[in-house]
Amino acid sequence: MIEIKNVSYKYSTPAGSVHALKSITASIPSGAVTAIIGHTGSGKSTLMELLAGLIKPDCGAITADGKEMSPKTAGLVFQYPEYQLFAETVYDDIAFGPLNSGSSKAEADERVKYAATKMRIDSDMMKYSPFTLSGGQKRLAAIAGILAMKRDILLLDEPAAGLDPSGRQLVFSVISELIEENKNMTVVFVTHSMEDAAEFADNILVLDSGELIMQGAPDEVFSNKEQLISCGLDIPEMMKLSIALCERGIDIGTPLSVSDAYRNIMRLLK
Ligand SMILES: Nc1ncnc2c1ncn2[C@@H]1O[C@H](COP(=O)(O)OP(=O)(O)O)[C@@H](O)[C@H]1O
Ligand SMILES: [Mg+2]
Repeated sequence: MIEIKNVSYKYSTPAGSVHALKSITASIPSGAVTAIIGHTGSGKSTLMELLAGLIKPDCGAITADGKEMSPKTAGLVFQYPEYQLFAETVYDDIAFGPLNSGSSKAEADERVKYAATKMRIDSDMMKYSPFTLSGGQKRLAAIAGILAMKRDILLLDEPAAGLDPSGRQLVFSVISELIEENKNMTVVFVTHSMEDAAEFADNILVLDSGELIMQGAPDEVFSNKEQLISCGLDIPEMMKLSIALCERGIDIGTPLSVSDAYRNIMRLLK
């Protein structure tokens, strides 16, 4: 369990200070997936860097099982994969994390293969320079680099941005596999997609101008339609469909995903 207590963070710029996060208090459960949503500039990436232990709060504290966050316990996939990829080949890039944290060459090789297989990176691609990859391939390589570190806390800042539908499906199925395989795993992802938050998260944190305005299960969070719209967000399309049908006297419940809606509609038709 990650505990965020009263956390604030300011950036100093030549034009003055930017109050990116204001007294955030939240809990992020282990063995579950948490999504962070909020409009651009609401503080999502700043919160991810704090969770990764890459920056320290100005006040307040973030702990995982009582210990301060550290890059040794959490792995962050940055919003822009270019920030992360730097080695000469994709192989070296994925191997960097394990080698840098003390793995032997053989162990690092095993972890590279594990992470590359998960992210569908084939042996040809391993020899390429990461800079020759497409945007989507860079994203998958950046995720593989963090998976190879085998941290119990996995943080992904907009992991599906720039991916095609199969890439997006791959990212979220890998996330659910990791949680299945390791019950101590904590996954946090940032997204602009209400659908992805509704379908793939167990728990959602909503940021608005540096403040945490809601936290809870997807059905609870998305029941506050007006408040979400007022901070530049929305509810998932399937919930809009259910509201439109309900106004015409057809009750399909409150589906969060297409498969939920399908199941509820089929039940109604029987
Ligand atoms: N390195 C930085 N220097 C100064 N201001 C920053 C920096 N990074 C982010 N900010 C500011 O902090 C606020 C939150 O940014 P960020 O955490 O990137 O939001 P989000 O990821 O939700 O778009 C924004 O006002 C942004 O302009
Ligand atoms: Mg961001």
